[in-house]
Amino acid sequence: MAEVKVADLRVTYNRGRTVAADDVSFEVTDGEFCILLGPSGCGKTTVLHSIAGLIRPDRGEVRIGDQVVTSVEGGVYVRPQDRNVAMVFQEYALYPNLTVWGNLAFPLEARGMRKAEVRKKVSEVAELLGITELLKRRPAQLSGGQRQRVALGRALVRDPSVFLLDEPLGNLDAKLRVQVRFELKRIQKQLKATMIYVTHDQTEAMTMGDRIVLMKDGKLVQVGPPRELYEEPRNLFVAGFVGMPPINLLHCTVVSSADGLLLDAGEIKLPAPETKREKLSPGMRLVVGIRPADIAWEGEGIPLEVALEGVEPMGDSVIVHGSLGSIGLTAKWALPEIQESDRVKFVLNPEKLHLFDPGSGARI
Ligand SMILES: Nc1ncnc2c1ncn2[C@@H]1O[C@H](COP(=O)(O)OP(=O)(O)OP(=O)(O)O)[C@@H](O)[C@H]1O
Ligand SMILES: [Mg+2]
Repeated sequence: MAEVKVADLRVTYNRGRTVAADDVSFEVTDGEFCILLGPSGCGKTTVLHSIAGLIRPDRGEVRIGDQVVTSVEGGVYVRPQDRNVAMVFQEYALYPNLTVWGNLAFPLEARGMRKAEVRKKVSEVAELLGITELLKRRPAQLSGGQRQRVALGRALVRDPSVFLLDEPLGNLDAKLRVQVRFELKRIQKQLKATMIYVTHDQTEAMTMGDRIVLMKDGKLVQVGPPRELYEEPRNLFVAGFVGMPPINLLHCTVVSSADGLLLDAGEIKLPAPETKREKLSPGMRLVVGIRPADIAWEGEGIPLEVALEGVEPMGDSVIVHGSLGSIGLTAKWALPEIQESDRVKFVLNPEKLHLFDPGSGARI
């Protein structure tokens, strides 16, 4: 396996009118599961295709292991088939006339691998993916999830330096998605494979990634482990994109009181976090972010009596929607159910508040 380095990548379409990626630099270490995350159209596929060599960028460099595979400035461009990367596209195409066995064996036979070796390799990968029983079937005789695993298997048999996966679970139902997600993560760890995995689904990113590269409008917004993006989002976009249910956002003004600085959102007034105090002054406008999971139902903190607007039972947890005047707040509690009544108590911890500049969106 190998590390991947992308430096100062810029890709445009339409003769430069659409900038799909700009100033994109990040590194993926050997054996890392890296997620390229971001909303539709932000440039994820463009970056992945640049690594695969399917796109020649306008500027920048891509390195796989010790080899520079693309360097616009250096005049280097290694063809996709010579990069030793395996790619799984969102619209995975299996050969309909070949059996599962045939689909897995094809890339190996095409490279002239000996029969016995092909047999060994295909059996190994089939075993790993739990599709040994399906080897004689054709793609039309498989479920979507099974087809997905065959497509993945076709990438795995190749022993590439790097796996590039573009929304590979897009076609699966929710249950299968969770199952294959878990399987893929296990396989990745077992093979110590370097994987770059594209998704727009933050849950997928949070559960699978060692690290997330979050993009918006062709640019990187934040790169870090999932927890870091969740706990220290560098701006409002990251705060809103990562975390489910989404973070609560309140517009506040900083006011001084006898007890110190308060964040005044009208119906709700919260003490300013200790750690942020020196950065705040009366009259300042802020956006305060409160993660639903940081709102408790008991214990220490600032208790708020809110009107109950609705409850969504999730099995092991409940999502509780409350309101205080014009302000809506959502909490996520690790309780199987709650007593339904008109009012509930939301307990806020001032030290868990996220503060942002309403103009630039930057974290304070
Ligand atoms: N071949 C193309 N010609 C012109 N514009 C393109 C082309 N491919 C992509 N784009 C544009 O470049 C931008 C980035 O596209 P890209 O496919 O990389 O986004 P993405 O993040 O993969 O989106 P999605 O999640 O919808 O797959 C978009 O604005 C898109 O419309
Ligand atoms: Mg895409």
